[in-house]
Amino acid sequence: MKRTLFFAASFFALSAAASLIAGAAPSTPAKWWKLGERSGSPAKTRARITRYYQRMFPRLTLQDYALGSGALSKDMRRQDEELGAFSPAGFVLDKGAKLWRRPFPDGKSYASCYPDGGKGAAAHYPFYSDRQQGVVTIPVSLNACREKHGLKPLPYGKPEIVALETYLTSLSNGAPIAVEARSQGAVRAFRAGQEFFFRDEGQLGLACASCHFGAVGHYLRAQLLSPALGMTATFPKYRMKWGKVGTIDQRFRGCQKKIRAKPEPFESVNYRNLQFFLAYLGDGITIKVPGNGP
Ligand code: HEC
Repeated sequence: MKRTLFFAASFFALSAAASLIAGAAPSTPAKWWKLGERSGSPAKTRARITRYYQRMFPRLTLQDYALGSGALSKDMRRQDEELGAFSPAGFVLDKGAKLWRRPFPDGKSYASCYPDGGKGAAAHYPFYSDRQQGVVTIPVSLNACREKHGLKPLPYGKPEIVALETYLTSLSNGAPIAVEARSQGAVRAFRAGQEFFFRDEGQLGLACASCHFGAVGHYLRAQLLSPALGMTATFPKYRMKWGKVGTIDQRFRGCQKKIRAKPEPFESVNYRNLQFFLAYLGDGITIKVPGNGP
């Protein structure tokens, strides 16, 4: 773990957010790399991480973290809202709804694979499955549903499965994230995600945490670095830069490329663990999908 303060490095031009609505510009962070240690239960880790951000941004409520960097800057929030007003994400939602209702060859449909036809289901994703010995994300569950009903799995990260994920997740809009980590396997997956987030990577030797903990609230060029808390609440998300709605995996890939690390394939074990870790941290934060951002 790189213990130097990342934003002291001259490679990036970082500056404190000009119009922080969260309170004063963040001061020198506490020893953020300690949050990467495996002490206590996942719930304890979450409490320590939440306290870290609360100390830094005392005016933010837990729910504010759903806004990502918009929680930290009025300008950023306005930009996201304006984007939302013209966002083509609604088309993706409609496409997802259509695909969702299309009957399978056996007459069933996706809704048959989820409790309550999918309503509120996404709030409990991803989850750890003892039977499958791994983290099940929504795209993985969609493909399992297809295979159960005699259809081929869809390629991850492509428009069709992204539209389906967007629609299914939107059926939990307004519901708080409720991800559990009780079984031994779930705790292991959480720890693996945590480790990944805090591990130095790529040619620049940075961890996800270097930016999203160590430099949170500072600008990296034009982008305001968001907290890790609540990151999953608005994905899939429309991003102007992508010109489309993308998954959180796509974001993971982008951030890995930024630090010149090799991006992993969609739904890799590491990415699923990472998503599980982040969703667990965001427990209680309300889902609002599709999100919008620059
Ligand atoms: C060099 C700094 C840097 C590193 C290291 C980094 N990111 Fe990011 N990340 C950014 C920037 C800049 C953004 C865009 C602004 C924002 O929302 O934080 C971003 C955005 C994100 C978002 C989207 C947040 C949202 O609300 O839309 C996710 C998720 C994310 N990063 C995850 C990761 C993960 C996982 C890693 C480690 C593989 C990582 N990041 C490493 C700079 C970084």
